[in-house]
Amino acid sequence: MKALVLSGGKGTRLRPITHTGAKQLVPIANKPILFYVLENIIRLGIDDIGIVIAPETGEAVRQAVENANKWGANIDYILQPEPAGLAHAVKISRSFLKDSPFLMYLGDNLIGADLRQFYQRFLKEMPDALILLKKVPDPSRFGVAEIDELGQVLRLIEKPKQPPSDLALVGIYMFSSKIHEAIEHIRPSFRGELEITDAIQRLLDWNCPVLSYILKEWWLDTGKKDDLLEANTIVLDKWIERDVQGKTKNSVISGRVVLPSSSHVINSQIRGPVVIGEDVLIKNSFIGPFTSIGHRSKIINASLEHCVLLDGVEVINIERLEDALIGKHSRIVKNSTPPKALKLMIGDDSIVEIP
Ligand code: DAU
Repeated sequence: MKALVLSGGKGTRLRPITHTGAKQLVPIANKPILFYVLENIIRLGIDDIGIVIAPETGEAVRQAVENANKWGANIDYILQPEPAGLAHAVKISRSFLKDSPFLMYLGDNLIGADLRQFYQRFLKEMPDALILLKKVPDPSRFGVAEIDELGQVLRLIEKPKQPPSDLALVGIYMFSSKIHEAIEHIRPSFRGELEITDAIQRLLDWNCPVLSYILKEWWLDTGKKDDLLEANTIVLDKWIERDVQGKTKNSVISGRVVLPSSSHVINSQIRGPVVIGEDVLIKNSFIGPFTSIGHRSKIINASLEHCVLLDGVEVINIERLEDALIGKHSRIVKNSTPPKALKLMIGDDSIVEIP
């Protein structure tokens, strides 16, 4: 068994964060989304993994994975020259996949479960495709499946305007080698991509066995800012344990807070769940629940809650920061001396909301 992780693509919906980085490396509770994906695969005992990367962000992905150096699995990197679709990513990975059955996992999908039962079902029944589905309130954002009462898949459509059901395709699939033949028979979609959804539909047209499995636990496609903040909230809520090692002075640290020994908290209050990275300084500040602070950040005279700060962020003299996603090395500073004009240096596609 092999696994194929898709970590290419453009990440346009998370701009400007993804102008300079891969969206799969955006951290949730200070750990890249891609690492949760790899951990979930390795937990199944699959140790032959191909990661599809893009020319712009591939090197960063490779470095992050290699630097973590903890996988105990064989990891190959497969360059996809352009983001021509999920089925295209499978197509260019043929020499890695050969004729092996495989688990395909989109590198920006996060789920609140391990995949043991899903995987066992595939091994037991060996269909040509097993898809993971989840009931969602807004199915037209996704691939959508129509199934009968036995769970047999009847039809699949990518991002339908009028969805035939509320069952979205989670970005986790199991395939036999038959999928390669199906991919040979599809054409680019309305968005100009070779869609894996269309290839699975082709298997259905050929009466090949396609099974579905409905996910009961939470699932997040971390494509947009609000999804990402929600993913951070859920992960902090469910998976974080208290681990306070850092130095504290005149401070109150309550609840499930991760504070590594290299970080300092002075005259401040931290109310968990909160994750703080290495070499962080927090001074005269309040850090409220559901906040992740990246490594080497500085929070001084500020109050923040429900925020994700990437590495090297400075927040200084800010009364209240809420629901914010702040990219690497950004500085948010309020100068107390008049005039009270806003002085900004803002990258492309940024959003600044001023009350
Ligand atoms: O997240 C689930 C959804 O993922 C499914 O419901 C849809 O059926 C499926 O088509 C896919 O839709 P998205 O529009 O969300 O896919 P996106 O373009 O965001 O790409 C998903 C991941 O795959 C992302 O990590 C980038 C990577 N990718 C994407 C493309 C288009 C590649 O590695 N290569 C590509 O060519």
